Amino acid sequence: MKRMITAGICALILGVVTAGAQWGPRPIPEPTDGLKDAYKDYFKIGVAVNNRNVVEPEQIKVILREFNSITAENAMKPEPTEPRKGEFNWEDADRIANFCREHGIKMRGHTLMWHSQIGSWMYQDAQGNLLPKEEFYANMKHHIQAIVNRYKDVVYCWDVVNEAVADSPVWPGRPELRDSPMYKIAGEEFIYKAFEYAHEADPNALLFYNDYNDAEPAKSQRIFNLVKRMKDAGVPVDGIGMQGHYNIYGPSQEDIDNALTLYSQVVKHIHITELDVRVNTEMGGALRFSQGATQIADWEKTLQEDMYSRLFRVLRKHKDVIDCVTFWNVSDKDSWLGVNNYPLLFDENYKPKRAYLQVKGFDPAKDNAVVKEDFRPSELNQPGQDYPMVNSQGYARFKVNAPKATSVIVSLGLGGTGGTVLHKAEDGTWMGTTDGPMDEGFHYYHLTVDGGVLNDPGTHNYYGSTRWESGIEIPAHDADFYAMKRVPHGKVQQVLFWSGSTQQNRVAWVYTPPQYDKNKKKYPVLYLQHGWGENEYAWWNQGHANLIMDNLIAEGKVEPFIIVMTYGMTNDVRPGGLFSFDYKQFETVLCDELVPYVDANFRTIAKKDSRAMAGLSMGGMETHAITLDRPEMFGWYGLLSGGIYSPDEIKDPKQVKGIFIGCGSKEGPDRIREAAAQLQAAGFNAKGYVSEGTAHEFLTWRRCLHEMAPMLFRK
Ligand code: XIL
Repeated sequence: MKRMITAGICALILGVVTAGAQWGPRPIPEPTDGLKDAYKDYFKIGVAVNNRNVVEPEQIKVILREFNSITAENAMKPEPTEPRKGEFNWEDADRIANFCREHGIKMRGHTLMWHSQIGSWMYQDAQGNLLPKEEFYANMKHHIQAIVNRYKDVVYCWDVVNEAVADSPVWPGRPELRDSPMYKIAGEEFIYKAFEYAHEADPNALLFYNDYNDAEPAKSQRIFNLVKRMKDAGVPVDGIGMQGHYNIYGPSQEDIDNALTLYSQVVKHIHITELDVRVNTEMGGALRFSQGATQIADWEKTLQEDMYSRLFRVLRKHKDVIDCVTFWNVSDKDSWLGVNNYPLLFDENYKPKRAYLQVKGFDPAKDNAVVKEDFRPSELNQPGQDYPMVNSQGYARFKVNAPKATSVIVSLGLGGTGGTVLHKAEDGTWMGTTDGPMDEGFHYYHLTVDGGVLNDPGTHNYYGSTRWESGIEIPAHDADFYAMKRVPHGKVQQVLFWSGSTQQNRVAWVYTPPQYDKNKKKYPVLYLQHGWGENEYAWWNQGHANLIMDNLIAEGKVEPFIIVMTYGMTNDVRPGGLFSFDYKQFETVLCDELVPYVDANFRTIAKKDSRAMAGLSMGGMETHAITLDRPEMFGWYGLLSGGIYSPDEIKDPKQVKGIFIGCGSKEGPDRIREAAAQLQAAGFNAKGYVSEGTAHEFLTWRRCLHEMAPMLFRK
């Protein structure tokens, strides 16, 4: 058991590491309030319900917590309420209406006149001949007024006519309206009549025209035209319902924005009436309905989060005209599109999905954020590459040429998103800007193009996540301490040492200070370990350990020392496998093979008090275990986002000359502060350090090294 990394340390590291993308997202806690609360200053949040939704306690709980407007998914449609002329069936509609009455929730009525889910008696005779206009109107009036009257007390608005506008393309000379039986009988006038009948029955209800493909530019123009003609003719139409059956690829934010702007020129009320965001683009019968087994890929979830988050940003922008946004069903479990379309904010177990957090956890300040257009190429770009770019606020902007791709995602994102989704620009390239300023410093990232993981050809690659990944640098305000300056520079050289225990030549990089080649002095040595998924390149390549040392030495702030960086054998560990990582093999390589090699081949002070071990993250776990296992080897210990020492772990307080523990302020820094205080109280020479504004990333560790180096090897 002792050979394994101890559970306590594991938990400490996992605690900070799970926040990182490579270990997957944290589970989403049960909400304590709902979407309706988050949007109380914007618009109502509604939901379409069926009979099961309003009787099962688990679903009722979600409905009452999240929503403050309810639509009957099917129960108030023409056919379910009046399957045959004069034969009304109110059972289902009453159940839902009574649920709403009981809980004081007002309803959107859906829908009075539609070419679908309507008894054919409404418009044709037993032989299938279309009825004369007067008879059709009489049927329509009787039906509409019966239902509007019945639910007047609880229904505050109606989708009076549904889907009467023709889909694109509409060829020149063809009608802008759907060629339905009703249209055949009466032309556009049937729409006007439906509104008049509804208004007569309930003059207080808000009356909507409702349709789909509502953001497609050509169709939205036709919808606008229809409603404009109605307004001009004095028809009592109050609003436009945009159904909002969208998918993860579209419509674009611009199209939705434009449609809202257009509609708001003709009506004072816009409702999103049937919102869902499915994972495929097929329509109608080709929809990938629930087959039971399909897994939604992580990148598809990211596209969905992005779609929902952009959509709601646009909706918030139009809050003056939008007064209700209704989701079409409670959860993926019984979405009309099937569970495999993954379209809603609650999963099949009624648990909130990642997209829920995007919709709910918006930052109003960000809605009006102005991105400064002073972008310039990232300093880590390959020669001649303009992208990625960064601006003075810390936003990153990406551009990728992938003309035939259908989706491009950059793995760098903010606030728990799966990344930044790029959008196709007019020139066929994919572009996107992070949703806000990034943390300062170095970030690994990659692209996901149609589900395939690739590097960005614009940047250099850095080893992390067990592969060479793209890197970007958000200029840090304190970048000076690791800048390459005109000071004497040390050397970083590769050494190959034979390891008997692993039967191979192994690599180490050795930093020697600038003076090393000019004198005969002996130097102390720091053995400095990288983290999970990284390798022996990390500390000098992306960590700039050598430049940090050169600058500190030039300023006379450190006792010059050698740094040895070797591979900590951490790449075989997969997420979840940290508990069973056996550091013993590496302990042998380090203590019994590398240290003797370095002492034999470099001018070292080959004594414990002149030897330090430190590591970041998982390298901190190794440091913790190995320093305690081999008290005779190392006199100085450093854990950088890599856990803590507690006083009782260290058998003999005199075994250690100094302890450094540090982490970023976004990694739960309290335990570092507490542990440092405890060590100090117990009489240890201990330093705790918190890097402001950084997470489990390299700027934290650069700063940690910069803070730790001056304390090392002091008498
Ligand atoms: C859907 C329902 O969700 C399904 O249960 C039913 O089988 C078909 O109709 N546009 C509308 C809604 O206006 O009434 C539709 O509802 C979805 C498309």
